[in-house]
Amino acid sequence: MARILTGIQSTGTPHLGNIIGAILPAIENSKDKNNDSFLFIADLHSLTQIKDATVLKNNTYSVAAAWLAFGLDPNESVFYRQSDVPECTELAWYLNCFFPFQRLKLAHSFKDKSDRLEDINAGLFVYPMLMAADILLYDANLVPVGKDQLQHLEMARDVASRINHKYKNVFIVPEPLTTKDSMLIPGTDGDKMSKSKNNTIDIFQGNADIKKIVNKQIVTDNIPLEDPKDPYISTVYKLYSVIADEDSAAQMAKKLQAGGYGWGHAKKELISIIETKFDNPREKFNYYISHKEELDIILESGAAKARKVAKATLDRVRNQIGY
Ligand code: ADP
Ligand code: TRP
Repeated sequence: MARILTGIQSTGTPHLGNIIGAILPAIENSKDKNNDSFLFIADLHSLTQIKDATVLKNNTYSVAAAWLAFGLDPNESVFYRQSDVPECTELAWYLNCFFPFQRLKLAHSFKDKSDRLEDINAGLFVYPMLMAADILLYDANLVPVGKDQLQHLEMARDVASRINHKYKNVFIVPEPLTTKDSMLIPGTDGDKMSKSKNNTIDIFQGNADIKKIVNKQIVTDNIPLEDPKDPYISTVYKLYSVIADEDSAAQMAKKLQAGGYGWGHAKKELISIIETKFDNPREKFNYYISHKEELDIILESGAAKARKVAKATLDRVRNQIGY
């Protein structure tokens, strides 16, 4: 049985791109009986950016509510909040002491911002070692990551190998499980949907807001209504086709290609499918957001399971390094 582990940064309510690109595939993975799945909310990593206690707390709740709303079963996966497992920060310290400063200097999390050194905290500098601790603490075999996280995973493998080389086999060296590029969801401007680009669609908001975003923000060309249009270069169609079933998507493509069907019509269908397809998850999301005490119970029970594994690993590490 392979242990698959993924961390989700809690930087806000997940958008449509996060849901289709990360949440749904991870939930699918977690249902595979050959996998033993660990999923956690990386709220200690978020502290490198977020210093508002209420925002920090609420982001965790939004992320947890979104995963549960889309069907994550906390009995099938170990689902927890990183900050509920203090063993993680202890292990991160040990890893810091075994990893060269010169290698950490090359990490994207730090390097991308290193032109503004005055804005960088030491936590951001050691970010990859906290991530390595998240993984090594649970003897994970596989870590699903996007391309942007591959370098961090390589550092986790590196520090594990350094420690394994010095002592007897302490850690399992994890392998990356890269996600497909084909699932990149476009934002309202046609570019990759991303929080940092202000082009996201939040499917958990009310229908009136979704309608406004689709109608006012999704860019279209100005080909007249009666003329044929190319669906495959249009953001409206691309979004529709990742949400709708194959037949409905093929029908919309045909209508656009035939002419006499405008972007207004296509947007109306897109709004309608967002409303109906996500109606149930939205209801569940809202339920959890107004019952945060239930989220706490679920996450705390996940943390209790996680800590059992974490304590065993940490004992092993402490013994070997001389504590
Ligand atoms: P953002 O770009 O909004 O900050 P994150 O980097 O926090 O999103 O991404 C969280 C997860 O969601 C990652 O696994 C990432 O691969 C996935 N993801 C983010 N945006 C998209 C997108 N537009 N299409 C597909 N997957 C995405
Ligand atoms: N750094 C990851 C990201 O930004 C989140 C993360 C933290 C993670 N710890 C992890 C991912 C461990 C996988 C495994 O997406």
